Amino acid sequence: MELTAGKVAVVTGAASGIGFALASRFARAGLDVVLADIEQSALAEASQKIADMGARTLAVATDVSDEAAVQALAAAAIERFGAVHLVCNNAGVESDADPWLGPISAWKWVLGVNLWGVIHGIRAFLPHMLGQGGHFVNTASIAGLYPGFAPSYDASKHAVVAISEDLYNSMSLAGLPVGVSVVCPGWVRTNIMDASRNWPASLGDQPPPSFGAEVVSKHVRHAIDEAILPADVADLVADAVTEGRFWVFTEQPFVDLAIRRWHTIAERANPDRNVDVPGMPPAEQLREEVMRLIG
Ligand SMILES: NC(=O)c1ccc[n+]([C@@H]2O[C@H](COP(=O)([O-])OP(=O)(O)OC[C@H]3O[C@@H](n4cnc5c(N)ncnc54)[C@H](O)[C@@H]3O)[C@@H](O)[C@H]2O)c1
Repeated sequence: MELTAGKVAVVTGAASGIGFALASRFARAGLDVVLADIEQSALAEASQKIADMGARTLAVATDVSDEAAVQALAAAAIERFGAVHLVCNNAGVESDADPWLGPISAWKWVLGVNLWGVIHGIRAFLPHMLGQGGHFVNTASIAGLYPGFAPSYDASKHAVVAISEDLYNSMSLAGLPVGVSVVCPGWVRTNIMDASRNWPASLGDQPPPSFGAEVVSKHVRHAIDEAILPADVADLVADAVTEGRFWVFTEQPFVDLAIRRWHTIAERANPDRNVDVPGMPPAEQLREEVMRLIG
């Protein structure tokens, strides 16, 4: 789909990081931009910045884990601009809570935003798109192809890759004019490590970090501080939408993680614990740091 003036893009998680970069990229191409986010002050600021670039904007405070809120977002976007051509289901969070011994609330939060947010986004906008055509961009992660981060995050992102592929297949099998891309980045320089700023009060107290997370988080923060910029991801997404490409990857070493995993699957070998993740210390060092902490 050509990104041309007069088209309308909706971006969730648009107040920060990759979402804000997508909104900026589309504004530069002349699109009208609907920005949705749960963080209202950051959303207002982001929307003003996009408007200052000359784009027509609409900011809609939205919790993507809430179906009614995402339906209201779709209605507001169509009422304001008359149509929606591009929907980026991008909002996402990660939790440092212990997945097995900590409270279930951390799972509910991560799956609610990362997975249900994408499901709600597709269901709210697809009926409209079937009539006139359009494109979905779902932000997964390389964690959607290589489980090596946090279980709730890995599970949510694997599911986003799966439903994106299913949607792509059903649209193309039926010959419907709706494109799909799935974004699977490695590290990107954003505020994701401070995702807990949006922990919902409705889920009770925020769970403490797990032992492992205490060790790993500081390395992940470092990797993210050194990572590619969200604007780089936005350029890759814009190219993928224009060229009708499904997969959006960033650097090859992250893709190699997934390929290596598939080699072990093909060999029926057990999962390999000794994999070095780009930007992180060697696996052996991480294991020693965790063992030292546990004592
Ligand atoms: N940063 C990375 O290294 C990286 C790597 C791979 C994938 N991703 C994915 O990229 C996407 C964007 O994250 P980011 O890295 O830009 O982080 P970010 O924290 O900078 O931006 C995420 C945005 O989502 C919003 N958000 C959180 N909960 C929400 C909710 N319930 N409803 C609506 N909006 C909500 C936040 O307020 C924030 O503006 C996420 O899906 C994330 O999982 C990030």
